[in-house]
Amino acid sequence: MKHFLQETDFTPSEAAAVFLRAQEFKQGRGRPGPQPLAGQTWAMIFSKSSTRTRVSFEVGIHELGGNPLFLNKGDIQLGRGESVEDTAKVLSRFVHGLVVRTHAHSEVERLAAAGGIPVINALTDFLHPCQIYADAFTLAERWAAPGADLFASLRGRKLAFLGDTACNVASSWILGAARFGMKIALAGPEGFAPGAEIDALLAREGLAGGYRFTHDPFEAVRDADVVYTDVWVSMGKEEEAKARLAQMTPYAVTAKLFAAAKSDAYFMHCLPAYPGKEVTQEVLDNPRSIIFDQAENRLHVQKAILAALVAGR
Ligand code: CP
Ligand code: NVA
Repeated sequence: MKHFLQETDFTPSEAAAVFLRAQEFKQGRGRPGPQPLAGQTWAMIFSKSSTRTRVSFEVGIHELGGNPLFLNKGDIQLGRGESVEDTAKVLSRFVHGLVVRTHAHSEVERLAAAGGIPVINALTDFLHPCQIYADAFTLAERWAAPGADLFASLRGRKLAFLGDTACNVASSWILGAARFGMKIALAGPEGFAPGAEIDALLAREGLAGGYRFTHDPFEAVRDADVVYTDVWVSMGKEEEAKARLAQMTPYAVTAKLFAAAKSDAYFMHCLPAYPGKEVTQEVLDNPRSIIFDQAENRLHVQKAILAALVAGR
């Protein structure tokens, strides 16, 4: 049974195939296309808010011929203490796959281990792999020459991540950069160095030692092809908001910081953005800001991930 819980759940050649398929889905959108999910229902269990992930998965599952079934965790017995394992076993009798957004990363791993159906990680406190695959595809669309391999165009490029360098999107980009052969430098405040959990995962995957962490934002963006940031207060961290805002202010992506990257660098943000905090409105509006292409590509890339998991059952 194939799952997509982390970036390395696809080999480099499988990831290259996902990008190619995403490009086909994007180019063919609006015309009748393949329906690999025909006759299937996919449950989507969400414990946190979502705009992009929820809508892109619901639309994508529908476009592939399947039926999305959105389940707010608070509305099902899982939210009242039914075990993760029993939930997985019961849902496996009804539906063909699970898309899960939750807090503990171990929850998606336990659902995958206990159920008999593919599980997709739609964001945990630790990783957000659907986002990183869509981001990488968005960059490859720009960097690959027409007809050339999308995946190969990522190799050797440098991404700089600023701000909350211990958050799920940062950890996921560390693992993603290792999978795509990219370089990554992260700049954030004291106490926000990428943690033991991502280091242990990199070691388990044989990908240790691939990132640089600094407290100097200008050092991180030097020679960067991409400048990336995320919210300073992730879902679940609301009680730390005041302290985080004070600590992270030096890492805001301003026009001056963005200008210190390569002259053709792109600005990226997974969204939602809070202009005036982690990034200025001026940078969000820069012609090299590709935030809405990232958002759109969630749909095409997740359709390719769904198709790959269904084919790999
Ligand atoms: N970027 C992202 O995952 O957005 P949502 O929280 O709106 O799904
Ligand atoms: N780091 C953010 C990402 C939102 C898509 C969060 O977890 O809230």
